[in-house]
Amino acid sequence: MLAKKVEKLLNEQIVAEMYSANLYLSMSAWFSDKSLDGYANWFYVQYKEEMDHALIIYNYINNAGGVVKMGAVDAPPVDFKDTGDILEQTIAHEELVTSLIYAINSAATEAGDYKTIQFLDWFVKEQVEEEDNASTNLGRYKLFGADPRGLLTLDQEMAARTYSQTPELAAIEGA
Ligand SMILES: [Fe+2]
Repeated sequence: MLAKKVEKLLNEQIVAEMYSANLYLSMSAWFSDKSLDGYANWFYVQYKEEMDHALIIYNYINNAGGVVKMGAVDAPPVDFKDTGDILEQTIAHEELVTSLIYAINSAATEAGDYKTIQFLDWFVKEQVEEEDNASTNLGRYKLFGADPRGLLTLDQEMAARTYSQTPELAAIEGA
């Protein structure tokens, strides 16, 4: 059993993670169009990780005695001003996601729902990493991105990121 409010917020979080996924895929497409294939790759990997997050929550609701009810996912923006604009929007978005995770935590705490609090622990840690990655990307862009050669080097570094399925999801799907 999950408390109704916790169940509702977790369901909304599936949608929020899918929105994050689509937002990052949209950003990836923008970079692809600008021939910044390294950045495009980085955001493509980010898209996949966000889909993992959605599925981790989906599985948790099912396993914890709740009911998954899928909601509509809003369309992400498709036009961006420039690379800096995207990197700034990424930070703002990850801060928003952190606040959503905190809100679920508060509801779970209020409901005495310790299993959900424990479940969310991984997401709290993940958000530290997400916010750190986003601010590193912006910081490096601000330092080197204005110079074409600097931007090329950054793009090459972004190309090195590879996707591997989030272990928490691999554990569920392999079980
Ligand atoms: Fe996420």
